[in-house]
Amino acid sequence: MTENQDKLWGGRFTEPTDAFVEAFTASVAFDRRLYRQDIAGSIAHATMLTHIGILSEDEKARIIEGLETIREEIEAGRFDWSVGLEDVHMNIESRLTALIGDAGKKLHTGRSRNDQVATDIRLYLRDEIDAINAEIRRLQTGLLLLAEREADTIMPGFTHLQVAQPVSFGHHMLAWFEMLDRDHERMVDCRRRVNIMPLGSAALAGTSYPLDRFLTAELLGFERPCRNSLDGVSDRDFAIEFTAAAALLMTHLSRMAEELVIWASAQFDFIDIPDRFCTGSSIMPQKKNPDVPELVRGKSGRVNGNLIALLTLMKSQPLAYNKDNQEDKEPLFDTIDTVRGSLRAFADMVPALQVKADNMLAAARQGFATATDLADYLVRKGLPFRDAHEVVGKAVQQAAAKGCDLADLTLEELREFSQAIGEDVFDVLTLEGSVAARDHFGGTAPGQVRQQVEQLRAEYKL
Ligand code: ARG
Repeated sequence: MTENQDKLWGGRFTEPTDAFVEAFTASVAFDRRLYRQDIAGSIAHATMLTHIGILSEDEKARIIEGLETIREEIEAGRFDWSVGLEDVHMNIESRLTALIGDAGKKLHTGRSRNDQVATDIRLYLRDEIDAINAEIRRLQTGLLLLAEREADTIMPGFTHLQVAQPVSFGHHMLAWFEMLDRDHERMVDCRRRVNIMPLGSAALAGTSYPLDRFLTAELLGFERPCRNSLDGVSDRDFAIEFTAAAALLMTHLSRMAEELVIWASAQFDFIDIPDRFCTGSSIMPQKKNPDVPELVRGKSGRVNGNLIALLTLMKSQPLAYNKDNQEDKEPLFDTIDTVRGSLRAFADMVPALQVKADNMLAAARQGFATATDLADYLVRKGLPFRDAHEVVGKAVQQAAAKGCDLADLTLEELREFSQAIGEDVFDVLTLEGSVAARDHFGGTAPGQVRQQVEQLRAEYKL
């Protein structure tokens, strides 16, 4: 049992909080990372209270000075965090009163921890979204670099992980760019709904003080105050939305990671991941493992879990605030840390990837990757597509039996399948010809890839 005198809500209690319950209900171990937002929110609140005549200029000055001292104490590691004071909000408020006396006790006028915490998380998440978006752009910049450098590099494109048609490696990098671009858009969209201010909702019903919530919102850079106080303290949609967008982003990184792992294997040998992004095995001296992509692939699971945790946390909560909401922070913070770490690793690693163009080309040669081009050629010579498909199927069968590529069959051999085939067939049977032929917007022709890179650079200023 601990004493209740130092609790900010101790008035109506006759016995101290059970020691285990005190630790069980506390959130300071993880919500202390909101200290800067908590202090910024308090400074804005105090400024607004002064503007409407509830605090004097002198009180405001002392509150702001005290809060700034506390920020310095925290940043210098000199702040004495107390589990008994439950959370970041009461730790800071209690210290403020210790530092400046009675003026500190007035700060909580017209607000509650319910609107305070909802405001703090939104301020925090807003900054984190900006940092995540900057990191997405950094990764996209690396992809553009690689796409430009490797526009002429031919690799097998796959469907069903079977060689399908040759593509430009640069084109593949631009596909990754697009996936990330949608993630960026989702984050921007989500940020609009994060940037609404709950402060002034107080516990749930608003407050009897004539608060100027528009002023507070302006001071904190919010778009506007929330329209409904009940919704203001209870809404965690923004955290769910963010985590959903993050889960999709991690799904994309995981798919990229999977390709990198496959490409780095001895069987594919398409790329080399520089040593600084890999580790070895403690028992097998020959090993160099693609740890960074593997770990990112694995971490996507954690973010999916966080999304389910948040959805489940909210699904049966009645209005307005419930203590359940304290459980929003750890999944949210973990999601932020995971996404930022994964993006950082990828943004550092991607431009450093070494591409083994000869191996990719050799692999593309193995899978009859120009079969579709031969069919298209026959269509141009007048065959209906279905008949052309049949002819090429036969030719593939023969090449497979001989253990060679379509381009290695002689003209006479090819003409046995269709008399429409002429000498010019070899222009389309080459990988270079096949790739160059897909020369329209969104196609894989190297010229298209380079044009796309140029346009994206100009549009996004990357
Ligand atoms: N630590 C709490 C949270 O994270 C702050 C709000 C608590 N409000 C309350 N009435 N108990 O949600």
